Amino acid sequence: MNAIEVRNLKFKYKDYRKDSEAWYEPVFLGLDLVVGCGEHMMIMGKAESGKTTLCRILTGSVPKYLGGKLEGSVAINGKDLSVTQTWDLVNDVAIVAQNSEEQLVCSSVEDEAAFPLQMMGQQRDKMVHSVDAALSQFGLESRRLQSVESLSGGEKKRLLLAVTKAIGPGICLLDETFDELDQTYKSILADWIRSTDRTVLLLCSRPLEICRGIFDSFGILEDGVIRSCTEEKAFETRLSSLPPFATDLSQAGAITARDLEIAKGGEFHLMVPSFELRRGEVVSLSGANGSGKSSFARALSGLDDVLKGQFSLEKKQRPVEIGYLFQNPDFQIFLTTVRDELEYPNAKGKDIDGTCSLFGLNPDGIASILSYPERKKLQAAVYYLLDRPYYILDEMESALEYEDCHRIIGLLRRHGAGVLIITHDSRIAAWASRRYVIEDCVMKEASDEH
Ligand SMILES: Nc1ncnc2c1ncn2[C@@H]1O[C@H](COP(=O)(O)OP(=O)(O)OP(=O)(O)O)[C@@H](O)[C@H]1O
Ligand SMILES: [Mg+2]
Repeated sequence: MNAIEVRNLKFKYKDYRKDSEAWYEPVFLGLDLVVGCGEHMMIMGKAESGKTTLCRILTGSVPKYLGGKLEGSVAINGKDLSVTQTWDLVNDVAIVAQNSEEQLVCSSVEDEAAFPLQMMGQQRDKMVHSVDAALSQFGLESRRLQSVESLSGGEKKRLLLAVTKAIGPGICLLDETFDELDQTYKSILADWIRSTDRTVLLLCSRPLEICRGIFDSFGILEDGVIRSCTEEKAFETRLSSLPPFATDLSQAGAITARDLEIAKGGEFHLMVPSFELRRGEVVSLSGANGSGKSSFARALSGLDDVLKGQFSLEKKQRPVEIGYLFQNPDFQIFLTTVRDELEYPNAKGKDIDGTCSLFGLNPDGIASILSYPERKKLQAAVYYLLDRPYYILDEMESALEYEDCHRIIGLLRRHGAGVLIITHDSRIAAWASRRYVIEDCVMKEASDEH
Protein backbone atom coordinates (compact mmCIF):
# COMPACT_ATOMS: atom_id res chain seq x y z
CA MET A 1 0.00 0.00 0.00
CA ASN A 2 1.27 3.48 -0.86
CA ALA A 3 1.08 6.44 1.50
CA ILE A 4 -0.22 8.71 -1.25
CA GLU A 5 -1.78 7.49 -4.47
CA VAL A 6 -3.31 10.01 -6.84
CA ARG A 7 -4.54 8.87 -10.27
CA ASN A 8 -5.63 11.05 -13.17
CA LEU A 9 -6.57 13.96 -10.91
CA LYS A 10 -8.46 16.78 -12.59
CA PHE A 11 -9.51 19.74 -10.53
CA LYS A 12 -10.91 23.23 -10.96
CA TYR A 13 -12.19 25.88 -8.56
CA LYS A 14 -15.61 27.43 -8.89
CA ASP A 15 -15.76 31.03 -10.00
CA TYR A 16 -18.19 32.56 -7.52
CA ARG A 17 -18.15 35.90 -9.26
CA LYS A 18 -20.12 34.56 -12.22
CA ASP A 19 -23.21 32.40 -12.76
CA SER A 20 -23.49 29.02 -11.10
CA GLU A 21 -21.86 27.12 -13.98
CA ALA A 22 -18.68 29.21 -14.20
CA TRP A 23 -15.31 27.68 -13.31
CA TYR A 24 -11.72 28.90 -13.21
CA GLU A 25 -9.13 27.35 -15.52
CA PRO A 26 -8.35 23.81 -14.31
CA VAL A 27 -5.49 23.53 -11.79
CA PHE A 28 -4.81 19.83 -12.51
CA LEU A 29 -5.20 18.13 -15.86
CA GLY A 30 -4.74 14.44 -15.12
CA LEU A 31 -2.12 14.49 -12.36
CA ASP A 32 -0.59 11.22 -11.10
CA LEU A 33 1.39 11.04 -7.86
CA VAL A 34 2.52 7.96 -5.98
CA VAL A 35 4.53 8.30 -2.75
CA GLY A 36 5.49 5.13 -0.90
CA CYS A 37 5.31 4.74 2.89
CA GLY A 38 8.37 6.37 4.45
CA GLU A 39 9.40 7.98 1.14
CA HIS A 40 10.61 11.59 1.16
CA MET A 41 9.64 13.51 -1.95
CA MET A 42 10.25 17.09 -3.01
CA ILE A 43 8.04 18.75 -5.60
CA MET A 44 9.14 22.00 -7.19
CA GLY A 45 6.47 24.21 -8.66
CA LYS A 46 6.28 27.84 -9.63
CA ALA A 47 4.05 30.22 -7.73
CA GLU A 48 0.40 29.43 -8.46
CA SER A 49 1.16 26.04 -10.03
CA GLY A 50 -1.21 24.29 -7.57
CA LYS A 51 1.04 23.20 -4.68
CA THR A 52 -1.29 24.43 -1.93
CA THR A 53 -4.35 23.06 -3.74
CA LEU A 54 -2.66 19.66 -3.96
CA CYS A 55 -1.99 19.73 -0.19
CA ARG A 56 -5.61 20.66 0.48
CA ILE A 57 -6.83 17.80 -1.71
CA LEU A 58 -4.53 15.34 0.09
CA THR A 59 -5.94 16.39 3.47
CA GLY A 60 -9.54 16.21 2.22
CA SER A 61 -10.32 19.90 2.78
CA VAL A 62 -10.72 20.42 -0.97
CA PRO A 63 -13.27 19.99 -2.44
CA LYS A 64 -15.23 19.17 0.71
CA TYR A 65 -14.89 22.50 2.53
CA LEU A 66 -13.42 24.88 0.00
CA GLY A 67 -15.37 23.77 -3.06
CA GLY A 68 -14.32 22.87 -6.57
CA LYS A 69 -14.86 20.02 -9.01
CA LEU A 70 -12.62 16.99 -8.63
CA GLU A 71 -12.28 13.97 -10.92
CA GLY A 72 -9.92 11.01 -10.62
CA SER A 73 -8.94 9.12 -7.48
CA VAL A 74 -7.06 10.18 -4.35
CA ALA A 75 -6.07 7.69 -1.65
CA ILE A 76 -4.17 8.25 1.61
CA ASN A 77 -2.82 5.08 3.23
CA GLY A 78 -5.27 3.15 1.05
CA LYS A 79 -8.28 5.23 2.17
CA ASP A 80 -10.29 6.53 -0.77
CA LEU A 81 -10.84 10.22 0.05
CA SER A 82 -14.12 10.39 -1.86
CA VAL A 83 -15.70 8.24 0.87
CA THR A 84 -13.52 9.14 3.89
CA GLN A 85 -14.34 11.82 6.42
CA THR A 86 -11.52 14.30 7.05
CA TRP A 87 -11.54 13.52 10.79
CA ASP A 88 -10.76 9.89 9.97
CA LEU A 89 -7.48 11.08 8.42
CA VAL A 90 -6.16 12.80 11.52
CA ASN A 91 -3.55 10.13 12.29
CA ASP A 92 -2.71 9.66 8.61
CA VAL A 93 -1.82 13.10 7.31
CA ALA A 94 -1.06 16.62 8.56
CA ILE A 95 -0.09 19.78 6.76
CA VAL A 96 2.17 22.66 7.74
CA ALA A 97 0.42 25.49 5.90
CA GLN A 98 2.31 28.00 3.81
CA ASN A 99 0.51 30.86 5.56
CA SER A 100 0.70 30.24 9.32
CA GLU A 101 -2.14 32.65 9.96
CA GLU A 102 -4.56 30.23 8.28
CA GLN A 103 -3.76 27.45 10.71
CA LEU A 104 -3.14 28.98 14.12
CA VAL A 105 -6.29 29.01 16.23
CA CYS A 106 -5.41 29.28 19.94
CA SER A 107 -4.28 32.20 22.07
CA SER A 108 -1.18 30.74 23.75
CA VAL A 109 1.69 28.68 22.33
CA GLU A 110 1.07 25.82 24.75
CA ASP A 111 -2.66 25.67 23.97
CA GLU A 112 -1.95 25.61 20.25
CA ALA A 113 0.29 22.54 20.59
CA ALA A 114 -2.14 20.77 22.93
CA PHE A 115 -5.37 21.60 21.06
CA PRO A 116 -5.31 18.84 18.40
CA LEU A 117 -4.27 16.26 21.00
CA GLN A 118 -7.20 17.25 23.22
CA MET A 119 -9.52 16.94 20.23
CA MET A 120 -8.11 13.46 19.59
CA GLY A 121 -8.92 12.53 23.18
CA GLN A 122 -5.30 11.82 24.04
CA GLN A 123 -4.59 10.79 27.61
CA ARG A 124 -3.25 13.69 29.71
CA ASP A 125 0.21 12.33 30.63
CA LYS A 126 0.93 11.37 27.05
CA MET A 127 -0.30 14.75 25.87
CA VAL A 128 1.96 16.66 28.27
CA HIS A 129 4.93 14.60 27.13
CA SER A 130 4.17 15.11 23.41
CA VAL A 131 3.69 18.88 23.83
CA ASP A 132 6.92 19.24 25.85
CA ALA A 133 8.96 17.28 23.30
CA ALA A 134 7.50 19.13 20.32
CA LEU A 135 7.98 22.64 21.76
CA SER A 136 11.51 21.80 22.81
CA GLN A 137 12.52 20.47 19.37
CA PHE A 138 11.42 23.73 17.76
CA GLY A 139 12.89 26.03 20.42
CA LEU A 140 9.60 27.23 21.90
CA GLU A 141 9.73 25.73 25.40
CA SER A 142 10.36 29.12 27.03
CA ARG A 143 7.46 30.62 25.01
CA ARG A 144 4.74 28.32 26.28
CA LEU A 145 2.64 31.12 27.75
CA GLN A 146 3.39 33.74 25.09
CA SER A 147 0.49 34.77 22.86
CA VAL A 148 0.58 33.15 19.44
CA GLU A 149 -0.18 36.49 17.85
CA SER A 150 3.01 38.08 19.22
CA LEU A 151 5.34 35.40 17.81
CA SER A 152 7.59 36.38 14.91
CA GLY A 153 6.85 34.95 11.45
CA GLY A 154 9.47 32.20 11.76
CA GLU A 155 8.38 31.37 15.31
CA LYS A 156 4.82 30.84 14.02
CA LYS A 157 6.16 28.40 11.41
CA ARG A 158 8.11 26.60 14.14
CA LEU A 159 4.93 26.36 16.22
CA LEU A 160 3.11 24.73 13.30
CA LEU A 161 5.99 22.26 12.98
CA ALA A 162 5.77 21.55 16.71
CA VAL A 163 2.01 20.95 16.42
CA THR A 164 2.62 18.50 13.56
CA LYS A 165 5.28 16.71 15.56
CA ALA A 166 2.95 16.46 18.57
CA ILE A 167 0.21 14.90 16.43
CA GLY A 168 2.75 12.52 14.84
CA PRO A 169 0.91 11.72 11.59
CA GLY A 170 2.19 9.08 9.15
CA ILE A 171 2.38 11.62 6.31
CA CYS A 172 3.64 15.20 6.65
CA LEU A 173 2.81 17.70 3.93
CA LEU A 174 5.19 20.65 4.08
CA ASP A 175 3.95 23.58 2.00
CA GLU A 176 6.93 25.93 1.52
CA THR A 177 7.89 25.20 5.12
CA PHE A 178 11.56 26.20 4.82
CA ASP A 179 10.47 29.78 4.07
CA GLU A 180 10.67 32.13 7.05
CA LEU A 181 12.87 29.72 9.07
CA ASP A 182 16.35 30.97 9.96
CA GLN A 183 19.46 28.90 9.18
CA THR A 184 19.39 27.04 12.49
CA TYR A 185 15.81 25.91 12.08
CA LYS A 186 16.21 25.18 8.38
CA SER A 187 18.97 22.74 9.47
CA ILE A 188 16.80 21.29 12.25
CA LEU A 189 13.98 20.72 9.75
CA ALA A 190 16.38 19.22 7.17
CA ASP A 191 17.83 16.87 9.83
CA TRP A 192 14.35 15.84 10.88
CA ILE A 193 13.40 15.02 7.26
CA ARG A 194 16.66 13.08 6.81
CA SER A 195 16.08 10.94 9.88
CA THR A 196 12.32 10.40 10.05
CA ASP A 197 10.66 7.18 8.97
CA ARG A 198 7.46 9.10 8.21
CA THR A 199 6.37 9.96 4.70
CA VAL A 200 7.31 13.55 3.81
CA LEU A 201 6.11 15.57 0.84
CA LEU A 202 7.73 19.01 0.54
CA LEU A 203 6.31 21.49 -1.96
CA CYS A 204 8.42 24.52 -2.77
CA SER A 205 9.01 27.24 -5.33
CA ARG A 206 12.70 27.99 -4.66
CA PRO A 207 15.33 25.24 -4.41
CA LEU A 208 17.34 25.55 -1.19
CA GLU A 209 20.80 24.02 -0.99
CA ILE A 210 20.08 22.73 2.50
CA CYS A 211 17.51 20.35 0.97
CA ARG A 212 20.11 18.50 -1.12
CA GLY A 213 20.60 14.85 -0.24
CA ILE A 214 17.57 14.47 2.03
CA PHE A 215 14.90 13.43 -0.48
CA ASP A 216 14.42 10.09 -2.25
CA SER A 217 12.42 11.38 -5.19
CA PHE A 218 11.71 14.61 -7.01
CA GLY A 219 8.99 16.02 -9.19
CA ILE A 220 8.13 19.20 -11.04
CA LEU A 221 4.56 20.45 -10.92
CA GLU A 222 3.86 22.27 -14.16
CA ASP A 223 0.92 22.62 -16.57
CA GLY A 224 -1.38 20.73 -14.22
CA VAL A 225 0.69 17.54 -13.95
CA ILE A 226 3.72 16.27 -11.98
CA ARG A 227 6.69 14.99 -13.96
CA SER A 228 9.30 13.06 -12.01
CA CYS A 229 12.84 14.35 -12.38
CA THR A 230 16.38 14.02 -11.04
CA GLU A 231 17.69 15.91 -8.02
CA GLU A 232 19.87 17.99 -10.37
CA LYS A 233 16.87 19.08 -12.41
CA ALA A 234 14.81 19.91 -9.30
CA PHE A 235 17.59 22.17 -8.01
CA GLU A 236 18.11 24.03 -11.28
CA THR A 237 17.79 27.81 -10.90
CA ARG A 238 18.26 30.68 -13.25
CA LEU A 239 20.02 32.79 -10.67
CA SER A 240 22.88 33.73 -12.96
CA SER A 241 20.58 36.05 -14.88
CA LEU A 242 19.66 37.94 -11.69
CA PRO A 243 22.40 40.47 -10.99
CA PRO A 244 22.86 42.55 -7.83
CA PHE A 245 21.06 45.89 -7.92
CA ALA A 246 23.19 48.86 -8.96
CA THR A 247 23.36 51.83 -6.61
CA ASP A 248 22.27 55.17 -8.02
CA LEU A 249 22.74 58.03 -5.58
CA SER A 250 21.75 60.74 -8.05
CA GLN A 251 18.78 61.73 -5.87
CA ALA A 252 19.70 63.07 -2.47
CA GLY A 253 18.07 61.71 0.66
CA ALA A 254 18.41 59.06 3.33
CA ILE A 255 16.56 57.65 6.30
CA THR A 256 18.85 57.25 9.29
CA ALA A 257 18.44 55.90 12.80
CA ARG A 258 20.89 56.23 15.71
CA ASP A 259 21.22 54.60 19.11
CA LEU A 260 17.90 52.79 18.97
CA GLU A 261 16.76 50.57 21.75
CA ILE A 262 13.73 48.42 20.94
CA ALA A 263 11.89 46.07 23.29
CA LYS A 264 8.62 44.14 23.28
CA GLY A 265 7.24 41.83 25.94
CA GLY A 266 9.38 38.96 27.25
CA GLU A 267 13.13 38.89 26.82
CA PHE A 268 13.32 40.50 23.41
CA HIS A 269 15.67 43.44 23.17
CA LEU A 270 17.44 45.03 20.19
CA MET A 271 20.09 47.76 19.97
CA VAL A 272 20.70 49.59 16.70
CA PRO A 273 23.75 51.86 17.05
CA SER A 274 23.51 53.17 13.51
CA PHE A 275 21.42 52.48 10.41
CA GLU A 276 21.19 54.27 7.09
CA LEU A 277 19.15 53.67 3.94
CA ARG A 278 19.96 56.09 1.13
CA ARG A 279 17.73 56.73 -1.87
CA GLY A 280 18.88 54.64 -4.82
CA GLU A 281 20.54 51.84 -2.85
CA VAL A 282 19.44 48.33 -1.94
CA VAL A 283 20.56 47.03 1.45
CA SER A 284 19.70 43.79 3.22
CA LEU A 285 18.97 42.79 6.81
CA SER A 286 19.37 39.24 8.11
CA GLY A 287 19.28 37.58 11.53
CA ALA A 288 17.76 34.67 13.41
CA ASN A 289 14.02 34.20 13.92
CA GLY A 290 12.94 36.52 16.70
CA SER A 291 16.11 38.65 16.52
CA GLY A 292 13.98 41.72 15.80
CA LYS A 293 14.03 42.34 12.04
CA SER A 294 10.29 42.97 11.78
CA SER A 295 10.29 44.90 15.06
CA PHE A 296 13.01 47.16 13.65
CA ALA A 297 11.05 47.57 10.39
CA ARG A 298 7.92 48.60 12.30
CA ALA A 299 9.87 51.09 14.42
CA LEU A 300 11.68 52.56 11.39
CA SER A 301 8.44 53.00 9.48
CA GLY A 302 6.87 54.81 12.43
CA LEU A 303 4.34 52.11 13.35
CA ASP A 304 5.79 51.32 16.80
CA ASP A 305 7.58 53.39 19.40
CA VAL A 306 11.15 52.74 20.49
CA LEU A 307 12.47 52.91 24.05
CA LYS A 308 15.23 55.28 22.97
CA GLY A 309 16.86 56.63 19.83
CA GLN A 310 16.78 59.23 17.08
CA PHE A 311 15.49 59.14 13.52
CA SER A 312 16.25 61.57 10.72
CA LEU A 313 12.52 61.91 10.02
CA GLU A 314 9.60 62.68 12.33
CA LYS A 315 7.50 59.68 13.37
CA LYS A 316 4.38 60.87 11.52
CA GLN A 317 6.37 61.48 8.33
CA ARG A 318 7.93 58.00 8.20
CA PRO A 319 4.83 55.96 7.20
CA VAL A 320 4.37 58.38 4.30
CA GLU A 321 7.97 58.09 3.10
CA ILE A 322 8.50 54.38 3.74
CA GLY A 323 6.42 51.68 2.08
CA TYR A 324 6.62 48.77 4.50
CA LEU A 325 5.47 45.49 2.94
CA PHE A 326 4.62 43.37 5.97
CA GLN A 327 5.97 39.84 6.26
CA ASN A 328 2.40 38.50 6.03
CA PRO A 329 0.35 40.25 3.31
CA ASP A 330 -2.93 39.28 4.98
CA PHE A 331 -2.47 42.13 7.43
CA GLN A 332 -2.43 44.66 4.59
CA ILE A 333 -5.16 43.36 2.30
CA PHE A 334 -8.68 44.18 3.41
CA LEU A 335 -10.87 45.05 0.42
CA THR A 336 -12.97 42.81 -1.81
CA THR A 337 -11.25 42.75 -5.18
CA VAL A 338 -7.78 43.36 -6.55
CA ARG A 339 -9.10 46.49 -8.26
CA ASP A 340 -10.57 47.80 -4.97
CA GLU A 341 -7.19 47.36 -3.26
CA LEU A 342 -5.29 49.10 -6.04
CA GLU A 343 -7.76 51.98 -6.29
CA TYR A 344 -7.80 52.64 -2.56
CA PRO A 345 -7.96 55.40 -1.39
CA ASN A 346 -8.08 57.28 -4.67
CA ALA A 347 -8.26 55.82 -8.17
CA LYS A 348 -7.51 59.11 -9.96
CA GLY A 349 -4.61 58.87 -12.41
CA LYS A 350 -3.82 55.25 -11.53
CA ASP A 351 -3.26 52.77 -14.35
CA ILE A 352 -4.93 49.82 -12.62
CA ASP A 353 -5.06 47.45 -15.59
CA GLY A 354 -1.44 48.21 -16.61
CA THR A 355 -0.29 47.60 -13.03
CA CYS A 356 -2.20 44.31 -12.89
CA SER A 357 -0.50 43.07 -16.02
CA LEU A 358 2.94 44.12 -14.68
CA PHE A 359 2.33 42.10 -11.51
CA GLY A 360 0.46 39.20 -13.16
CA LEU A 361 -2.83 39.93 -11.37
CA ASN A 362 -6.44 39.72 -12.48
CA PRO A 363 -8.09 43.05 -11.55
CA ASP A 364 -11.40 41.30 -10.88
CA GLY A 365 -9.82 38.63 -8.65
CA ILE A 366 -11.30 38.35 -5.15
CA ALA A 367 -8.52 39.42 -2.81
CA SER A 368 -9.33 37.09 0.07
CA ILE A 369 -9.15 33.91 -2.02
CA LEU A 370 -6.02 34.76 -4.00
CA SER A 371 -3.16 32.35 -3.51
CA TYR A 372 -0.48 33.40 -1.01
CA PRO A 373 2.03 34.40 -3.72
CA GLU A 374 -0.69 36.37 -5.52
CA ARG A 375 -1.42 38.24 -2.28
CA LYS A 376 2.31 39.04 -2.00
CA LYS A 377 2.19 40.41 -5.54
CA LEU A 378 -0.95 42.43 -4.77
CA GLN A 379 0.72 43.93 -1.70
CA ALA A 380 3.69 44.96 -3.87
CA ALA A 381 1.41 46.33 -6.63
CA VAL A 382 -0.40 48.57 -4.11
CA TYR A 383 2.94 50.07 -3.04
CA TYR A 384 4.11 50.33 -6.65
CA LEU A 385 1.19 52.71 -7.25
CA LEU A 386 1.91 54.61 -4.02
CA ASP A 387 5.47 55.08 -5.37
CA ARG A 388 7.36 55.73 -2.13
CA PRO A 389 10.96 56.98 -1.91
CA TYR A 390 11.88 54.12 0.47
CA TYR A 391 10.68 50.55 0.87
CA ILE A 392 11.10 47.78 3.41
CA LEU A 393 10.40 44.30 2.01
CA ASP A 394 9.95 41.94 4.94
CA GLU A 395 10.69 38.41 3.68
CA MET A 396 8.95 39.17 0.43
CA GLU A 397 10.51 36.06 -1.08
CA SER A 398 8.45 33.58 0.90
CA ALA A 399 6.33 31.72 -1.67
CA LEU A 400 7.79 33.66 -4.61
CA GLU A 401 10.40 32.56 -7.11
CA TYR A 402 13.73 34.39 -7.37
CA GLU A 403 12.77 35.89 -10.75
CA ASP A 404 9.54 37.36 -9.36
CA CYS A 405 11.30 38.86 -6.32
CA HIS A 406 14.01 40.41 -8.44
CA ARG A 407 11.53 41.82 -10.93
CA ILE A 408 9.28 43.27 -8.21
CA ILE A 409 12.21 44.99 -6.48
CA GLY A 410 13.21 46.46 -9.87
CA LEU A 411 9.65 47.76 -10.39
CA LEU A 412 9.45 49.33 -6.93
CA ARG A 413 12.71 51.21 -7.39
CA ARG A 414 11.92 52.47 -10.88
CA HIS A 415 12.17 56.07 -9.63
CA GLY A 416 15.27 55.47 -7.57
CA ALA A 417 13.76 54.35 -4.26
CA GLY A 418 16.00 53.03 -1.49
CA VAL A 419 15.08 49.45 -0.57
CA LEU A 420 15.74 47.45 2.59
CA ILE A 421 15.31 43.71 1.95
CA ILE A 422 14.76 41.59 5.06
CA THR A 423 15.61 38.01 4.17
CA HIS A 424 16.87 34.63 5.41
CA ASP A 425 18.09 33.76 1.90
CA SER A 426 21.76 34.56 1.27
CA ARG A 427 21.17 34.49 -2.51
CA ILE A 428 18.71 37.36 -2.12
CA ALA A 429 20.92 39.22 0.37
CA ALA A 430 23.63 39.08 -2.33
CA TRP A 431 21.53 41.42 -4.52
CA ALA A 432 22.17 44.24 -2.00
CA SER A 433 25.15 46.60 -2.03
CA ARG A 434 25.41 46.68 1.78
CA ARG A 435 24.26 44.20 4.42
CA TYR A 436 23.12 44.58 7.99
CA VAL A 437 22.94 41.63 10.37
CA ILE A 438 21.52 41.18 13.86
CA GLU A 439 23.74 39.20 16.21
CA ASP A 440 23.58 39.00 19.98
CA CYS A 441 20.76 41.58 20.10
CA VAL A 442 22.76 44.21 18.16
CA MET A 443 22.30 45.28 14.55
CA LYS A 444 25.50 46.07 12.67
CA GLU A 445 26.73 46.47 9.15
CA ALA A 446 28.35 43.27 7.89
CA SER A 447 31.80 43.29 6.37
CA ASP A 448 32.22 41.50 3.02
CA GLU A 449 33.63 38.31 4.47
CA HIS A 450 30.69 38.04 6.90
N1 LIG B 1 4.28 40.64 23.64
C1 LIG B 1 5.38 39.90 23.52
N2 LIG B 1 5.81 39.11 24.51
C2 LIG B 1 6.94 38.38 24.39
N3 LIG B 1 7.71 38.39 23.27
C3 LIG B 1 7.31 39.15 22.26
C4 LIG B 1 6.13 39.94 22.31
N4 LIG B 1 6.00 40.57 21.11
C5 LIG B 1 7.05 40.19 20.37
N5 LIG B 1 7.84 39.33 21.05
C6 LIG B 1 9.07 38.68 20.56
O1 LIG B 1 9.91 39.65 19.96
C7 LIG B 1 10.83 38.96 19.10
C8 LIG B 1 11.09 39.79 17.86
O2 LIG B 1 10.13 39.53 16.86
P1 LIG B 1 10.32 39.97 15.35
O3 LIG B 1 9.02 39.69 14.67
O4 LIG B 1 10.83 41.34 15.28
O5 LIG B 1 11.47 38.96 14.84
P2 LIG B 1 12.07 38.71 13.38
O6 LIG B 1 13.54 38.95 13.45
O7 LIG B 1 11.31 39.50 12.39
O8 LIG B 1 11.83 37.15 13.20
P3 LIG B 1 11.43 36.26 11.90
O9 LIG B 1 12.70 35.95 11.18
O10 LIG B 1 10.88 35.00 12.52
O11 LIG B 1 10.42 37.02 11.12
C9 LIG B 1 10.22 37.57 18.86
O12 LIG B 1 10.97 36.58 19.55
C10 LIG B 1 8.82 37.69 19.44
O13 LIG B 1 8.35 36.45 19.93
MG1 LIG C 1 10.02 39.00 10.88
